[in-house]
Amino acid sequence: MSGADPRDFDGRVAFVTGAGAGIGQGIALRLARGGAAVACVDLDPGSAQRTAHEIGAAGGRAVALAGDVSVEADVTRLVEQAGDSLGGLDVLVNNAGVLYVGRFEDSTLEEWDRTFDVNLRALFLTCRAALPRLRASGAGAIVNIASMAAFRYTVPHVAYASTKGGVVAFTRDLAFELAVDRIRVNAVAPGPIATNMGSSLSASDLEKAGFRFVLGRIGQPADVAEAVAFLASERASYVTGATLPVTGGADLATRALRPEDA
Ligand SMILES: NC(=O)c1ccc[n+]([C@@H]2O[C@H](COP(=O)([O-])OP(=O)(O)OC[C@H]3O[C@@H](n4cnc5c(N)ncnc54)[C@H](O)[C@@H]3O)[C@@H](O)[C@H]2O)c1
Repeated sequence: MSGADPRDFDGRVAFVTGAGAGIGQGIALRLARGGAAVACVDLDPGSAQRTAHEIGAAGGRAVALAGDVSVEADVTRLVEQAGDSLGGLDVLVNNAGVLYVGRFEDSTLEEWDRTFDVNLRALFLTCRAALPRLRASGAGAIVNIASMAAFRYTVPHVAYASTKGGVVAFTRDLAFELAVDRIRVNAVAPGPIATNMGSSLSASDLEKAGFRFVLGRIGQPADVAEAVAFLASERASYVTGATLPVTGGADLATRALRPEDA
């Protein structure tokens, strides 16, 4: 375990979706280093196991839970298993997501539905299922992973951008409703991050979309995880309904995009 991370999550339980890879894995490891017991949730049981094992090997506490966050019965079971095995639920991180890149007229209804199911419907399911335990926490926190695509055109992915815009609005409105329960709801909007999903965008796609990595590098899962850890912790006790861009400045470019660049 790194001695550098503040122990903001001692005695807390976190539920992280899509924890088997990429950003979700980075978030699970970071919250565990901060003292959280972590439910590592993923569609892929092997990858969830690997993240939980890495946490255990570093002296932390974690369980691996396999399921599809867009399926109501799975979510009910996952939240129960996490709460029962780790003793409550204080932090919910909605990170699992899917991305289909392609022009609107070439995309399918199946892709549209799957994108909405995993990126948005799942938030309804996890937040509803976790609500009683988050309320009981007294300092519950939800952090949703949106995207820079909620705010500006990046590459052709109308469905994905629509869901991420939905995540921003979901976050704001739910924050209003849950403030009375002392549950804070925030989001992080990453720019391009080096993960399996991130690698589906080629360097030339990013160049065409006008990205400028003004900090000189692509983002890493740990960059997003640090922002999530802040928003999930009591250090952000006066922050709710916010969406924090974590883009390395990639969204600061103003070059006009032409339709033929799509
Ligand atoms: N990588 C980027 O550039 C980038 C940028 C902005 C936002 N994001 C967002 O960050 C989040 C994580 O992205 P990533 O790049 O780490 O992706 P990734 O594809 O590398 O990892 C996603 C993980 O989620 C799991 N998953 C997918 N569908 C699931 C389901 N239905 N139920 C449970 N688990 C499921 C996958 O098995 C995988 O382990 C997503 O919400 C994504 O939209 C990513």
